[in-house]
Amino acid sequence: MCGIVGVLGNHEVAPLLVEALKRLEYRGYDSAGIATVNHGKLDRRRAVGKLVNLSDLLVHEPLPGKSGIGHTRWATHGAATVINAHPHRSGPVAVVHNGIIENFRELRAELAEAGLAGESETDTETVALMLRLYMDRGLPPREAARETLKRLEGAFALLFLFEGEDDLMIAARKGSPLAIGHGEGEMFVGSDAIALAPMTDRITYLEEGDYAFVTRDGAEIFDSEDRRANRDALRIQLDQTRIDKAGFKHFMAKEIAEQPVVLADALKHYVRAGQITLPQALDFSNLDRLTLVACGTANYACQTAKYWFESLAGLPCEVDIASEFRYREPPLPGNSFALFVSQSGETADTLAALRFAADKVAKTVAVVNVTTSSIARESDIVLPIYAGVEVGVASTKAFTCQLLVLYLLALKAAADRGRLDPAALAERLAEVASLPGLMNQTLSREGEIAMIARALAEAQDVLFLGRGAMFPLALEGALKLKEISYIHAEGYASGELKHGPIALIDKSVPVVVLAPHDGLFDKTVSNMQEVMARQGKVVLITDTKGAIEAREGTWKHITLPTVAPALAPILYALPAQLMAYHAAVAKGTDVDQPRNLAKSVTVE
Ligand code: F6R
Repeated sequence: MCGIVGVLGNHEVAPLLVEALKRLEYRGYDSAGIATVNHGKLDRRRAVGKLVNLSDLLVHEPLPGKSGIGHTRWATHGAATVINAHPHRSGPVAVVHNGIIENFRELRAELAEAGLAGESETDTETVALMLRLYMDRGLPPREAARETLKRLEGAFALLFLFEGEDDLMIAARKGSPLAIGHGEGEMFVGSDAIALAPMTDRITYLEEGDYAFVTRDGAEIFDSEDRRANRDALRIQLDQTRIDKAGFKHFMAKEIAEQPVVLADALKHYVRAGQITLPQALDFSNLDRLTLVACGTANYACQTAKYWFESLAGLPCEVDIASEFRYREPPLPGNSFALFVSQSGETADTLAALRFAADKVAKTVAVVNVTTSSIARESDIVLPIYAGVEVGVASTKAFTCQLLVLYLLALKAAADRGRLDPAALAERLAEVASLPGLMNQTLSREGEIAMIARALAEAQDVLFLGRGAMFPLALEGALKLKEISYIHAEGYASGELKHGPIALIDKSVPVVVLAPHDGLFDKTVSNMQEVMARQGKVVLITDTKGAIEAREGTWKHITLPTVAPALAPILYALPAQLMAYHAAVAKGTDVDQPRNLAKSVTVE
C-alpha cells in the first residue's frame, strides 16, 4: 500500500513533500523517503519508521531542490530497512511506487544478465534498474519510461524523477490510484487528492493504464495504447477542518466521540420529510439477489446488513470477503445488485471484486466514505456514508455510518418489496432518528467502560459472543481489540461456542457477551451461563431489562439505553470500540497507527 507524492514547484520542495506524506501516512508508516533534483543533481534521504524520523534526518541533512518525489511505505517485499525504503535509485533515476510488480523476479534475472544488480529486496528497485537499462542504451527519459512500463505486470502507481531534469516527473497508473494536481506554474502528483489538498484543489485522476509526462506547464497524458488522452480536471472539495484531533489524545478517541454528530449528518442526507431519499434507480422490487462485498470491518457491516435485508425485505443476500470473492468466480444473477462497502474506496480486493461484478449484475453500488475514490468512480451508484475524514487506522465512525446506510437500504428494499407499509416505515425511521441521542447516552458511560477495559487489558485472550445481527458485531469487537491492543481476541456466534471454542474457557478468559434484551436474549443468556459454569469471566453488555434479568454472576456488566432490536448493532458498536480503545491506551500501544497495519490497503 504506501503513499506517493511528487512536486514540481517554485520553492524548496522538501517541506512540501514531508507535509504531503504526513497526509498519506494512513497508507503505511514502515519507512519514508524523498528524492529531489537540484540544478540537475538527483539525491535522496530515507529513514525507517514514522515520518518524524525522516523529518529529523532532513534537519541534519537537508535536501535542496524545487522538484521532488516522496514515499511512505507499508512493507510488502523486504523488511522495513533504509535499503528497502523508497525512493529507489539506479544511476540517473529515482522511483517511488505503490503496489506490487508481480514479474519482478523475471525482470531481475534479465537485469542481472545485463550486469545491473540491485541492493534491496524490493520489487520496486527493479523498475529503477529497468529505466536505467533503457537509458544506458541511449533512450531519453520519456522513451525509457514508455519501454519500462510495457514490461511491468501487477498493480502500481509509479512516479519517476531523473538526474539532469529539473522540470520532469513521469507518473503511471495501473491498478493503484494516482491524482495529478494543477497549480500556477507548479504541478503535483499524489496517491490521493487529500495529499495534495494544501497545494491545490484542481485534480485530474489518471485512468487505468494511463501515464503522464508532467512538467511545470502541465501534464501530457497517454492511455495504455500510447494515445494522447484528455482527462478532465475537477475541483475537489475537501473538508480540512476535520483533519485534527480537536483536543482528543488520539484520532480514534475523537472519531468514536463524533459518531452521534456524523450519524445525524448522514441521516439528514438520506431521510427528508419522513421519506428515505435514495436514488430511484435503486429499485429492489423484483430483485432476485443482493451481493455484498467488502474487507475487514466493512465486511462485518455487510454481514450485519444480511440479517436486515433477509428478515426485513425477504431479499436473499450473499456476503463475501473481497479477497475470496474475486477469485471464486461466483455466478451472479443478472437480476441482482452488487454492493461494495469501503471506507477508503481504494481497497484493492474490493475494487477488483467490483470490476469482476460490473458486467454481470444489473447495478453496482458503492457505499463509501471517500467519494472521489476508485470504487466510487467505477460504480453505477454511489452512496456516501458522510462520516467525514477517518484518520485512526481502526475504523469506528465509518463502521456505524456504513451500518446506517445499509439499514436505510434494507428499509427501502422492504418498502419496495411490499413488506413495510408507510406507517411501519415511518415507525422504523423514528427509531433511527433516536440513534444519535442514544449514542450520546452511551458515550456518557465511557468512564465505566474504560475501567472494564483496563481489566481486560490484563488478559491474554478475550472472546466476544453475539447472536443474530449481534454476531457480526462480536467479530468486529474482537477485531477492534486485537488490532489496536494486540490482545488475542475472537468473535463467535453464541450458539457455536459449544461446538469447539468452549474448550478455551477458564478463569483467565474474559468473554464479552453482546446481548440486548431482544427475541434472542434468553438463548444468548443460556450460552453465557455455559461460560460462567466453566469459570469464564463474563462482561455482559445489555440494556436495563437485560441487566436486571441476567447480570447476576457476571464479572462486569455495562448497561446501555434500550434501543430498537434491529438497531442494536449500531449502538452496541460504541462500547466495543471504547473497550478496545481504553485497553490499548492501558497497554500503551500506538492507538492511531497500530503496528503492521495501514488505513488504506491498496495491495491484494
Ligand atoms: C479495521 C479496519 C479494516 C478495514 C478494511 C477495509 O478497523 O479498518 O479492517 O475495514 O481494511 O477498508 P476499507 O473500508 O477502506 O475498504
